[in-house]
Amino acid sequence: MAQATNIHPIFDRLLQRNDREQHLGQRSKVLWLTGLSGSGKSTIAQALERKLHNEGYFAQVLDGDNIRSGINNNLGFSLEDRKENIRRIAEIAKLYLHSGVITLNSFVSPTREIRAFAKDIIGAEDFVEIYINAPLEVCEARDVKGLYKKARNGEIKGFTGIDSPYEAPEQPALEIRTDQLSLEESVDRIYEFIQSGISI
Ligand code: ADX
Repeated sequence: MAQATNIHPIFDRLLQRNDREQHLGQRSKVLWLTGLSGSGKSTIAQALERKLHNEGYFAQVLDGDNIRSGINNNLGFSLEDRKENIRRIAEIAKLYLHSGVITLNSFVSPTREIRAFAKDIIGAEDFVEIYINAPLEVCEARDVKGLYKKARNGEIKGFTGIDSPYEAPEQPALEIRTDQLSLEESVDRIYEFIQSGISI
């Protein structure tokens, strides 16, 4: 094959992820919180974001409310749409990752296949899977958004845990039992677990 001529690569002059991480004084990671609706993912992600901020880290939550009402507002809850939801989120998280930002991703991401897909996009070394675990009965009793009741009444079809699958992670990096730990304990555990990985 003929060698390309008059090409002037500028890669050595482009800012690298490491330059941005140095600038921010941290190593970036994607923390992937998976769990049933009502398990506490978003609450933990928001509290952890605040804690990281207070400790001097630069972090950003991505969750259903800011993603499904914006970039993914054309997607529903079929398994196919959930996969596309997660694909786009993983691509967004990867952009943040390479900008040096720690992202806290809080999505049901219900199947092993869907999470493996996200991990593949992000890269295994930067993908930290955290299982936010509360039994279905507990999530249903909490029913913060009233959605379990609607799912039981048949007003919502294909609700995770009721008539759409949730497959628990087999080997999460960390598991948090929100029916046994307080919010503060949950946040502290995750913070301690990730601290060495996000420090320079
Ligand atoms: S995912 O399956 O594609 O990862 P995502 O985390 O974005 O789901 O959105 C889940 C949130 O959407 C739930 O917490 C709940 O508030 C709402 N929701 C609405 N319909 C459903 C449904 N059929 N299954 C699960 N969650 C639903």
